[in-house]
Amino acid sequence: MHLLVTAGPTREHLDPVRFLSNRSTGKMGFALAAAAAEAGHAVTLVAGPVALDTPPGTTRVDVVSARDMLAAVQDWLPAADVLIMSAAVADWRPRRCAGIKLKKASMPATLELEPNPDILKTVAPLKGERLFVGFAAETGDPAPEARRKLAAKGLDLIVANDVSQTDAGFAVDTNRVVLIAADGTSQALPLMSKLDVARAIMRWCEERISYSAGTSTRQETGRSSPGAFR
Ligand code: CTP
Repeated sequence: MHLLVTAGPTREHLDPVRFLSNRSTGKMGFALAAAAAEAGHAVTLVAGPVALDTPPGTTRVDVVSARDMLAAVQDWLPAADVLIMSAAVADWRPRRCAGIKLKKASMPATLELEPNPDILKTVAPLKGERLFVGFAAETGDPAPEARRKLAAKGLDLIVANDVSQTDAGFAVDTNRVVLIAADGTSQALPLMSKLDVARAIMRWCEERISYSAGTSTRQETGRSSPGAFR
């Protein structure tokens, strides 16, 4: 399989030195890329600004903003069988980005924002037979919101996690997630390393791809070179 994995936060600049972002460190997405490469798959890793080494055997594409990440996903999706959106994409960006550093005296007291594109919703028309996997990072029981996002974003699988815990979610090496599939099945995984969570997600994808290849008339995904759909 060829996996397209997004990881990390995005940054939405208001001038060359200031930005809006979030607490994502990219560890879960990089673990997914590592687990996929370890299993022998081709991996394109679209990474927001993170301080992590590129997993061996993967192709890394660095991006900064949500719009950069969307462009990279549109470039690479045609070549992919599976899209895993583990990135914490910033939902909003400053309406204006200054070309030079704003002086304190000229900083507005309120920041005007505009919405970023929803990457999963934007590329939904290109899904075809590809698997789309999303993440739902919530504070508190993530399952209800995860189910809503699974349906709203047309996903095959959503990985739900409660990021208010100290041993799961942002910036730690462990995670406790529930895998919720579009067919109504779900699997609660115990606390485990992010690499083991990633391996479990990989197994789900591998089983689903081989199941659909074996039981249905899985159509050609129309894979082609990067950029074909932009
Ligand atoms: N996502 C996306 N594009 C965005 C925001 C999120 O593709 N602009 C993806 C994320 O990568 C994740 C899934 O959508 O796989 C859910 O992201 P999340 O931030 O939990 O949900 P939102 O749709 O942003 O909703 P909210 O912030 O209100 O919880």
